[in-house]
Amino acid sequence: MKTTFPLEQFQLLKTPFYYYDTHVLRATLQSICKEKEALGNCEVHYAIKANANPKLLPIISSYGLGADCVSGGEIEAALKAGFPAEKIVFAGVGKADWEICLGLDKGIFCFNVESVPELEVINELAGTMGKVANVAFRINPDVEAHTHAHITTGLAENKFGISMADMESVIARAAALQNVRFIGLHFHIGSQILDLEDDFLPLCDRINDLLEQLGKQGIVVENINVGGGLGIDYEQPESHLLPEFERYMSLIATHLKLSPAQTLHFEPGRSVVAQCGSLISRVLYVKQGTNKQFAILDAGMTELIRPALYQAHHAIENLTSKEEKEKYDVVGPICESSDVFGKDVCLPRVHRGDLMALRSAGAYGESMASGYNSRALPEGYILEELI
Ligand code: LLP
Repeated sequence: MKTTFPLEQFQLLKTPFYYYDTHVLRATLQSICKEKEALGNCEVHYAIKANANPKLLPIISSYGLGADCVSGGEIEAALKAGFPAEKIVFAGVGKADWEICLGLDKGIFCFNVESVPELEVINELAGTMGKVANVAFRINPDVEAHTHAHITTGLAENKFGISMADMESVIARAAALQNVRFIGLHFHIGSQILDLEDDFLPLCDRINDLLEQLGKQGIVVENINVGGGLGIDYEQPESHLLPEFERYMSLIATHLKLSPAQTLHFEPGRSVVAQCGSLISRVLYVKQGTNKQFAILDAGMTELIRPALYQAHHAIENLTSKEEKEKYDVVGPICESSDVFGKDVCLPRVHRGDLMALRSAGAYGESMASGYNSRALPEGYILEELI
């Protein structure tokens, strides 16, 4: 499989913009479905926060995936794109009352609850609406993911989730409430995880222990949700367009000791959409410094904030030039010195007007874009509307 860049059509579009190769996306979704079928009692909820572009969501929902939402806006986007309410899970540490009511009104599958005060509010609001809300508790498994500090979330003390020590009392609290029904446990240890064994096996061990502990008290956990986190290859995207779903999902399914009555849930975000997306930008200027040369793009941290925020690496390609390679610092136009996409990047000689692709930008790219410096939000185009 190779990424298609329809360059002639690109020339007609105003840069910068996001481009999504939907052949790559569909191949990715097929590989998820294949593994989901192989595992049997398993649900996959796409984490909409990774990319909520309304052109992509209906494609993703058409493969039978559910949705993992973290806001009322995401629930609305999911429903509009055809994700069935009964496959929507709703997470987040700070769910507002209107968002909880929206979830209750639409009959979503489950609220992933992150604190006792939230549980009480869901119970109260469900009561006033004459409903019973399905709830799962997000437990902090105290497992460290070997990833960037800003995107690891499974450690004992952070704003997410409920500690293991409090798990039993929280389940007991739910049992005492009229308008909530405890249906599962939820975990998420972090994102962009590549050491699958190192990080996911300890999570599975921890989940097995917790299930055994609850089982001794006759508490049945119907749903186990292991969150997201599967990483992708940012260094060489073209050689690894499809993430390792088979290895990842089967590793977890075989290591968890679930009964046939228990459903395993995944919430992949990045791995579904990252490799199909590129940020396409035009070179505005090539500037000679004293010791360096700069390629100044018309895209910046407003369109793709990951390098500035997490020191993340995105492969950069010159789609126009085939000349000798030279080294450039590739930077954006924003008035911030952190607005740098890459230093000492080897690229075919760059000229004003060249089109550049920032690869692996389909996840947490467009969805994290901002209007800083009064810039317009970028458009997103899919392959099938350009050819
Ligand atoms: N489930 C929960 C509860 C999550 O918090 C997340 C991501 C996911 C699923 C999806 O995880 P994924 O499969 O995408 O790793 N903006 C950052 C990533 C933040 C991830 C937040 N939570 C980045 O650009 O790297």
